[in-house]
Amino acid sequence: MQRDRWTNRLAFVLAAIGSAAGLGNAWRFPYMAYENGGGAFLIPYFIALLTTGLPLIVMEYALGQKYQQGAPGTLAKIKKPFESFGWFAVLAGAVITTYYAVIMGWIWVYLKACFKVEWAGNAGEFFENSILQISSGPGELGGLAIPVVIGLAITWITIYYILRNGVKDVGKVVLITVPAPVILMGILVIRALTLPGAIEGINYYLTPDFSKLLDVKVWIDAYSQIFFTLSLGFGIMIAYASYMPEDSDITNNAMITVFANSGISFLAGFAVFGTLGYMAHVQGVPVSEVAAGGPGLAFVVYPEAINMLPGGSVVAGIFGLIFFLMLLTLGIDSAFSIVEAGIAGLEDKWGWKRKKVTFWFCLISFVIGLLYATKAGLYWLDIVDHWVNNFGLTIAGLLELIVVGWILKPKTLRDYFNPISEFKFGAWWDFCIKYLSPAVLIYLIVNQLIKEFK
Ligand code: PHE
Repeated sequence: MQRDRWTNRLAFVLAAIGSAAGLGNAWRFPYMAYENGGGAFLIPYFIALLTTGLPLIVMEYALGQKYQQGAPGTLAKIKKPFESFGWFAVLAGAVITTYYAVIMGWIWVYLKACFKVEWAGNAGEFFENSILQISSGPGELGGLAIPVVIGLAITWITIYYILRNGVKDVGKVVLITVPAPVILMGILVIRALTLPGAIEGINYYLTPDFSKLLDVKVWIDAYSQIFFTLSLGFGIMIAYASYMPEDSDITNNAMITVFANSGISFLAGFAVFGTLGYMAHVQGVPVSEVAAGGPGLAFVVYPEAINMLPGGSVVAGIFGLIFFLMLLTLGIDSAFSIVEAGIAGLEDKWGWKRKKVTFWFCLISFVIGLLYATKAGLYWLDIVDHWVNNFGLTIAGLLELIVVGWILKPKTLRDYFNPISEFKFGAWWDFCIKYLSPAVLIYLIVNQLIKEFK
């Protein structure tokens, strides 16, 4: 059977950017920069980008395109026993989707809440009590939080409809879900920067503190952010690239993906810190007191800031809609890209019908995701997120690198992608794949293990 194909190059590149640009860009990057030396963080960030981000994304594109299979099939073609590494990657990704979809579920609930600005007055209380209905600990499941279950169901139905017919439909969806969040973010940036106090926020975000560069933690954060933000290690980019004709450009596509993704992160910082600066100004406190990252930023602090905008509740509702629509369109293509990595693997291996695989994948993930829709959901989400991000992603990435760097040999792959690509990569790429990136990942894993057992 003929392999499914993207309609054109744009569809593929947009889908890859869509996977890379997700919640991590909006709530992880700005806060990381702020915490790790502001503008100075850009130095380790770009070094990480050039020494591991770009080389790895080129590697994943080249693997998928050369072998025309998802991660498990690709690794099996290199040598049969390595197929299991591919399944490990896909499985780790599948675990992430189960809770990424729950966060998307919260976003649906907030979209509805925008019409009455339901969080007004106490956004923290609204998030924890009205939405999550949070219990006292992970052992106390305490039944399901119904709004979250509904949001979760809507998310999975959406993902099912986008993926069930193959990547041609995905290509159409990303024509909207990639530009839309950028435009919405642009509106938020303009609003933020024209508010009093915004500039102080931006100063917090960007004033370089070069002394931080001596701190190992800053470098660890930069490398981890690059792996996470480029959706590396889970075989997503392998699956996406496997739907490209075998002679398409690789390095150029990779550079576009990488720089577009960083641009979106950087822009998000202006929206977030401009708004936080205004909030601090209204409350008469330093920006450091309101600065936040992660779910707390998106679901509590930012909504609170929206309430303080001049113009009352209508304005708050409108900006709420803009903000949550941005998160929704930003996150949804990251969510379905992880699912695609799994579907590609299952389809390749057993030749099952795509619709059927997609249906069961979505249904089972929905059911597993119900754990995070219980009243103890947030505790579980934190625990699982911690383990998959710190170990799943890094171990899966390391296994992939070992296979390419030490078994297949980087030169073999470079001899494949250089002739078909506009920009040629030199032997430095082999060095990054064989030594540098594995060394970084081993360091991250060991460092995390030590932290775990201390
Ligand atoms: N890259 C996505 C983001 O920045 C997150 C993601 C990680 C998506 C891993 C898929 C796989 O939000």
